[in-house]
Amino acid sequence: MSQAFLKVEGLKKIFPGVSGGDDVTVFDNIHFEVQRGEFICIIGHSGCGKSTILNVLAGLDSASGGNVFMDGREVSGASLDRGVVFQSHALMPWLTVEQNVAFAVKSRWPQWGKEAVQTHCVKYLELVGLKHALNKKPHQLSGGMKQRVGIARAFAIEPKMLLMDEPFGALDALTRGVIQDELVKICAATRQTVFMITHDVDEAILLADKILLMSNGPYAKIAEIVENPLERPRLRTEMHHNPHFYTLRNHMVDFLVSRSHKIAEGDLPENYDPQHPPMIRPMNLATA
Ligand SMILES: Nc1ncnc2c1ncn2[C@@H]1O[C@H](COP(=O)(O)OP(=O)(O)O)[C@@H](O)[C@H]1O
Ligand SMILES: [Mg+2]
Repeated sequence: MSQAFLKVEGLKKIFPGVSGGDDVTVFDNIHFEVQRGEFICIIGHSGCGKSTILNVLAGLDSASGGNVFMDGREVSGASLDRGVVFQSHALMPWLTVEQNVAFAVKSRWPQWGKEAVQTHCVKYLELVGLKHALNKKPHQLSGGMKQRVGIARAFAIEPKMLLMDEPFGALDALTRGVIQDELVKICAATRQTVFMITHDVDEAILLADKILLMSNGPYAKIAEIVENPLERPRLRTEMHHNPHFYTLRNHMVDFLVSRSHKIAEGDLPENYDPQHPPMIRPMNLATA
């Protein structure tokens, strides 16, 4: 049997209670796998523990129980093997766009000469539509452009895995759409393995191969894994014409509206096994 690229086994997180209150088990028994080159989205209500999971995968936080293996090795501590993009861009304000990316590229490949670094940076900045802004400083950029620099920087270090926590959450809808299209393009060009948190169902349908639906906490779980049957290349402006689109979308919206709560209350579906959450294939869903 082949090993999954990323393997999450029985992950659990307990935060100590505040001012003498009880400890809170945000999630437990979280199991899932990511294959190399896969794009995984995770959706769930605010507070269920998505960011905590991402931080554990990044090695920025530690779990209270369970294990994470990447490429056969246990994840511990941050590493250039994993790139992270957060909602806010975290650019260095005194460096230009190109220098911000170059800084990361040089730490990844210290042996590279100036020209190699520059060519590499320009390639990724071009993929996010920023070739014209190489010499601009962050304060001269719009929010969308800053976020693009963060995305170019994360892809440019060619991490084994890219982790994104609601990267477009702070952007207006128009800008978000344009950057989503760029992300589709850059993923197609790089076959990057991605784990991304989003609260936007349409975004997940546009980007993901599989969507993990997380139930509400405490004791949140991966309630379902939804396979995305939409063929690539996907076009944001056309995918709603695909016969599977609304089945898929309604299934996820229904989960967020009702099923996520039921599972939180302990009303688990019959035969639910957290080690093997139900795999949902929209072709098999009743189109009621
Ligand atoms: N450092 C912390 N100390 C205590 N509780 C925390 C801490 N970080 C997160 N939490 C709690 O854990 C839960 C999950 O948080 P988070 O992972 O940020 O959720 P999500 O990203 O799904 O919105 C929330 O209820 C939050 O209040
Ligand atoms: Mg979060």
